[in-house]
Amino acid sequence: YPTERIRNFSIIAHIDHGKSTLADRLLELTGTIKRGKGQPQYLDKLQVERERGITVKAQTATMFHPHVLSSNHGTNQNDTPSFLLNLIDTPGHVDFSYEVSRSLAACQGALLVVDAAQGVQAQTVANFYLAFESNLTIIPVINKIDQPTADPDRVKAQLKSLFDLDPKDALLTSAKTGQGLEYPHPCCDRRIPSPPGCCDMPSECSCFKPAKHMVFSGLYPADGSDFDALNHAIERLTCNDASVSVTKETSTALGIESETRVISTIPTVPYIFEYSDGRYVGPVITLCSERRGEQLEYSFIDRQMFEITIQAAIGSKVIARETLSAMRKNVLAKCYGGDVSRKKKLLEKQKEGKKRMKRVGSVDIPQEAFHELLKVS
Ligand code: GTP
Repeated sequence: YPTERIRNFSIIAHIDHGKSTLADRLLELTGTIKRGKGQPQYLDKLQVERERGITVKAQTATMFHPHVLSSNHGTNQNDTPSFLLNLIDTPGHVDFSYEVSRSLAACQGALLVVDAAQGVQAQTVANFYLAFESNLTIIPVINKIDQPTADPDRVKAQLKSLFDLDPKDALLTSAKTGQGLEYPHPCCDRRIPSPPGCCDMPSECSCFKPAKHMVFSGLYPADGSDFDALNHAIERLTCNDASVSVTKETSTALGIESETRVISTIPTVPYIFEYSDGRYVGPVITLCSERRGEQLEYSFIDRQMFEITIQAAIGSKVIARETLSAMRKNVLAKCYGGDVSRKKKLLEKQKEGKKRMKRVGSVDIPQEAFHELLKVS
């Protein structure tokens, strides 16, 4: 196929702004899939993608757009296909941004999709800069204009002020209804250059950047004799997915050596959480669930009969301190009547007892609490 009639482009956006749905419409527009046939988010083929409704792996699709050259040049519409369009649908979640940078390295253009109601979000900015640094032609797409809360003008202003993108270039679309995605295909746009021929390729590929690791998890073999098999399996995984890296470790915190017993630690994502005035647990949990977070549990270290002080320390420096108040047993329960001195004596005795317990008391920390601490440490 003549390179001047090839367009390679990625669809990039913040999570859930509509990349895969837009890809569906583009596939329909070119007749690659039939309108209304096939499942929504056609390119999300992995089981995990279907189950979670998110893209995890970048997916490619090739389309032919038969009519554009004909209409541009006034030639017969039944001519051979005019444009060969290679589309890459990328993940929006920050954990998979390595997939985005890999995809952009293969493209000359990017459709930057922004939800018309939510506006520019964290991954919009991150992905814009990935595309910008790769010198791609960026075509803004303001999507979900069918939503009642859509505010395309606000998004246009954001695109101008944050990215210096001309609002006049923005496509206004609803990937859901197909509005704004009528013929001709936006990526036949002549602003997106055709790919360089093989002789023009740079000698070394510059925008593969090493992946920044986002999720960390420890894997320990159940049985020491499985260690080599586990090692081999992980090596195969790293061959298949360059964003996975492996470091061997032993866990003294768990009191075991990696060769002896199994523990698979819960995958963790490092984050910084800042409270600001008026923002408390309830609204934070609501915010998480609105973003499809699932609250699995909410738990405390059990209270004891005596006061417990919990301190977080780095070396000898205490960086945080919390006190769990004591549970109080009603020692006066059986004192009927008004013998005040007897009541006082019982309360004094209880006070002494608590002091002693605090000195000698041992707290049985449940395994779950230990796990929780390991999760954040
Ligand atoms: P990730 O790959 O997980 O980042 O998501 P995505 O950007 O590919 O979004 P996706 O296409 O999966 O759409 C997310 C949700 O938005 C789905 O429920 C879609 O049906 C919905 N959606 C997509 N486009 C539109 C639109 O134009 N209007 C409305 N109202 N909803 C849309």
